[in-house]
Amino acid sequence: MNGKDPEKVKVVTISRKNGAEHRATDPCGIETPMPCGLVIFGASGDVTRKKIGPAFYRLYKHGLLPEKFFILGTSRTGWSPDQFREQMRSAVKEAMPGDFDDSLWKELATKIYYSPIDYGMKESYLKSLKEGLPPLEKKHQTGGNRIFYLAIPPTLYENVILNLGVSDLSKEEGGYTHIVIEKPFGRDLESAKRLNTLLKNFFQESQIYRMDHYLALETVQNILMFRFANSIFEPLWNQRYIDHIQITASETLGIEQRAGYYEEAGVLRDMFQNHIFQLLTLTAMEPPVVFSAEPVRDERTKVFRSVRSFPLDKLNEYVVIGQYGRGEINKTPVPGYREETGVSKTSIIPTFAAMKIWIDNWRWNGVPFYLRSGKRLSNHKTEISVHFKPVPYSMFSNTLDAPIEPNTLVLRVHPDEGMNLILQAKTPGSEVCFESLSMDFSYQKDVLMDAYEWVLLNCMHHDQLLFVREDGVEEAWALLTPMIEKLEATTEVKKFPNYAAGSSGPEEAGLLIQKDGRTWRPL
Ligand code: BG6
Repeated sequence: MNGKDPEKVKVVTISRKNGAEHRATDPCGIETPMPCGLVIFGASGDVTRKKIGPAFYRLYKHGLLPEKFFILGTSRTGWSPDQFREQMRSAVKEAMPGDFDDSLWKELATKIYYSPIDYGMKESYLKSLKEGLPPLEKKHQTGGNRIFYLAIPPTLYENVILNLGVSDLSKEEGGYTHIVIEKPFGRDLESAKRLNTLLKNFFQESQIYRMDHYLALETVQNILMFRFANSIFEPLWNQRYIDHIQITASETLGIEQRAGYYEEAGVLRDMFQNHIFQLLTLTAMEPPVVFSAEPVRDERTKVFRSVRSFPLDKLNEYVVIGQYGRGEINKTPVPGYREETGVSKTSIIPTFAAMKIWIDNWRWNGVPFYLRSGKRLSNHKTEISVHFKPVPYSMFSNTLDAPIEPNTLVLRVHPDEGMNLILQAKTPGSEVCFESLSMDFSYQKDVLMDAYEWVLLNCMHHDQLLFVREDGVEEAWALLTPMIEKLEATTEVKKFPNYAAGSSGPEEAGLLIQKDGRTWRPL
């Protein structure tokens, strides 16, 4: 339910089974957003090609966009509008080969424009946007509602924000102006604060959409529904019944063509400060009073404030880092990280990390959270597993040798979206013994909406629930920055590589959890 009077809400409900559109009054449906224009910075880049273009096409196809809207692509590349349209067309077709409808594309293409820009020149913003936008807004009747989407390298953020500001493009005149910023938001606490300060010079917090695509994944959105819409789990969701929690995001991919970025980031900045930490907040947070952006973001931020700081003098008891060497992925040999194009032969950038976290509050006192993420591991999966305490006493000990396995609840984020609850039951037949069985729920894949579709829709709806607030991003950096700086200052070149591509990570990661008498779930 969206909490509004169903009679008064104009909504669009989608049947994704046959791709057909239905408009119906349905309180769970998504309201059609108000007319708007989207300006994409970095229109010639990979994010536009692989994510934003296909997401827009799907939204259009499913009738989730307002009739009155347009896209204005901009970047340093000197394309004509037709060249940009052609680039977008081939990108969308490549992203969804079996689902591409040429006639639909032709309709969408009439709403797509392009204008090159020099990111560092105010005059360029005045010409391409200050003068360029009003005629498009008039033609498409978008009422001056604008979204600036920064799909550019993070090194350009400050330049673009500043120039939008000094060109008076951040002001809300007539319609709304929103700015979407892709992660990474800064590379440490200081740079994140600087970026926030710069943004606040020109934009209100309500205009700023700091993005983390994990928050927009349907399975991640479901964590709150699952926890707070069922009465059977929440009473158990605390230190009385939970032994520990594991959060894993493992990838088989390497760094692709992103050595320049990754050599500056590493896994802690690339995956932990944002994606993994956001999964942690949703798993650990208290119930908000109401399911809307500010109360939910208050609770997410509170989790960061309760996380115990990492003791820098004994970091190795809490954190393990790794970097992949050569190995095999799907039986195909792959190079080590230091052999990838663009990577230093002596790089100390971690491509894997595992850590133990304590949350100091009533609910979680004494419950460790084990987090791990890495590239070039044996399997691609993101999941949260909640490991319950063993039964307090086994009345079966006189008949059974084996200990009773504690229950585990697994929230599978992707790629195999769903959840399973692992229970113990009697093995059928004449034997008296237990076996673990799994109650499985899997999402119907063709109904799931892509994270970028949610991001775009929510931004058009002024809904910041799936975005990170200023304090959230700074608290996450405050937690990680001292650890990262210490690791960078103390890691020796000879430490890496310490795991083979295609393995389950460095041996020390296993020891991190084994010394507490626990084991990682297999990848
Ligand atoms: C991105 C990181 O934010 O998330 C990538 O920069 C990573 O390095 C990706 O591969 C993982 O996202 P997903 O949705 O594939 O798990």
